[in-house]
Amino acid sequence: MRYFRVLEAVVRAVLITLFKHTRTMAVDVVLGLQWGDEGKGKIVDFLAKEYDIVARFQGGPNAGHTLKFDGKKYVLHTVPSGIFRDDLINIIGNGVVIDPITLSKELDKLDDARVDYAERLLVSNKAHLILPTHVYLDAASEAAKGKNKIGSTLKGIGPTYMDKTGRNGLRVGDLLAADFKQRYETIKQKHLKLISLYPEIDFDLDAREAAWFDKLERLKALKIVDTLYYVHNALDQGKKILAEGAQGSMLDIDFGTFPFVTSSNTITAGVCTGLGVNPHQIGRVIGIMKAYCTRVGSGPFPTELHDENGQHLRDVGQEYGATTGRPRRCGWLDLVQVKYAMMVNGVTEMAMTKIDCLGDFDEIQVAHSYNTLGQSTRELPFELSDESLAPEYTAYPGWKMDLSGIDSLDDLPAAAQEYIAMLESALDVPFTYVSTGPERKSLITTNTAYST
Ligand code: GDP
Ligand code: IMO
Ligand code: MG
Repeated sequence: MRYFRVLEAVVRAVLITLFKHTRTMAVDVVLGLQWGDEGKGKIVDFLAKEYDIVARFQGGPNAGHTLKFDGKKYVLHTVPSGIFRDDLINIIGNGVVIDPITLSKELDKLDDARVDYAERLLVSNKAHLILPTHVYLDAASEAAKGKNKIGSTLKGIGPTYMDKTGRNGLRVGDLLAADFKQRYETIKQKHLKLISLYPEIDFDLDAREAAWFDKLERLKALKIVDTLYYVHNALDQGKKILAEGAQGSMLDIDFGTFPFVTSSNTITAGVCTGLGVNPHQIGRVIGIMKAYCTRVGSGPFPTELHDENGQHLRDVGQEYGATTGRPRRCGWLDLVQVKYAMMVNGVTEMAMTKIDCLGDFDEIQVAHSYNTLGQSTRELPFELSDESLAPEYTAYPGWKMDLSGIDSLDDLPAAAQEYIAMLESALDVPFTYVSTGPERKSLITTNTAYST
């Protein structure tokens, strides 16, 4: 009898699980596995056509996602990378922080490109607002840090998330409150007191404030909704959602190279908190990595190259920040770091970008382990900036050929195919996409199960 009761409970649990999964779609995730700028914009733009909704779940205007198609280039900061597909809904989720000034500039560019976003761009009423004094505080805090500065994009990201976790911030939904102006003033006064503790810096607060209130009207004119219900209703209706990460796993507030990180969770877990989907609803997790590695801003970067190879990667890869224009630091691929990021994100497949940028090298170096004080390790230490830490490289033959625009795996030279096979085996994950150029169409889809 007891046996039958257990069996009945097991069957019921299986049926409930099956029912849940057939009824509700999963949210697929695209995110960066390094220090940002892995090519998320390009991959999301390519994949978007398979989805009904693209949603950003964290970060803000510190992001710069580049899309290239039909010979034109677009850089998005707060708006999701599905906006150029006419039939797609794009969501700015609750985990995102929004500056009406930068958002308005972005909308101007979309207007210029004749993109009709009015009915397709939804903003969470729970997303936090970046205030003019947040930008001021960011600049003052960085200036005070001197040579220890984080290298922030100075978009006000850190101070805004501080006010969110400190339970002081203003949200998009607050814009409708009768006492909004008063609440704004209270926070502003708090910020000004804080700013007075920092050395003085040049900042025209009055001008920024005037522009901010002006552009606020533009934000208010967008579709402001409770994106939590919107997302869950869409999933129940069988809609397909793609969550677009910003920054990269090594910039995650918890698992990145703290304190040289951003102030949000850039990892898969951030999709749950930044959109309100539950962990059971996460589907494919597509990790993106460059075929080498870059970082912009300060902080440790074990495989960084300070020689002509680093400069070559910067030149060929056009490695200059999409948001700030700063030159990006360049180095070899670091598999210790990528494995760490895969572990924390639950990556189910890989998209590798910029393999075309390795075409001039006789040999390509890849770090499989680190040496620290005579010991070899495949784990990231607490302090990645540890002076005694040295990457242990293996050299692979280059292919000395221009791969740009190749769209089939078979058309790649043998050495490039072997390089991809080696990485696939070392990381134990299928490489579903290999990108061979910045254009939307320059992409090899290797797994027919996901092919478009
Ligand atoms: P994101 O922040 O991850 O979206 O990346 P960014 O847009 O900041 O930086 C990636 C840069 O690489 C952009 O200039 C893209 O146009 C470019 N890019 C993306 N994929 C490829 C590729 O496969 N090859 C080349 N050469 N450039 C690429
Ligand atoms: P996407 O989405 C690369 C870096 C900054 C700085 C640190 C903190 O385009 O990949 P913040 O402005 O958040 O206070 O900066 O994080 N950073 C990025 N680096 N790509 C990004 O976004 C980044 N967003 C922030 O350079 O080192
Ligand atoms: Mg970028």
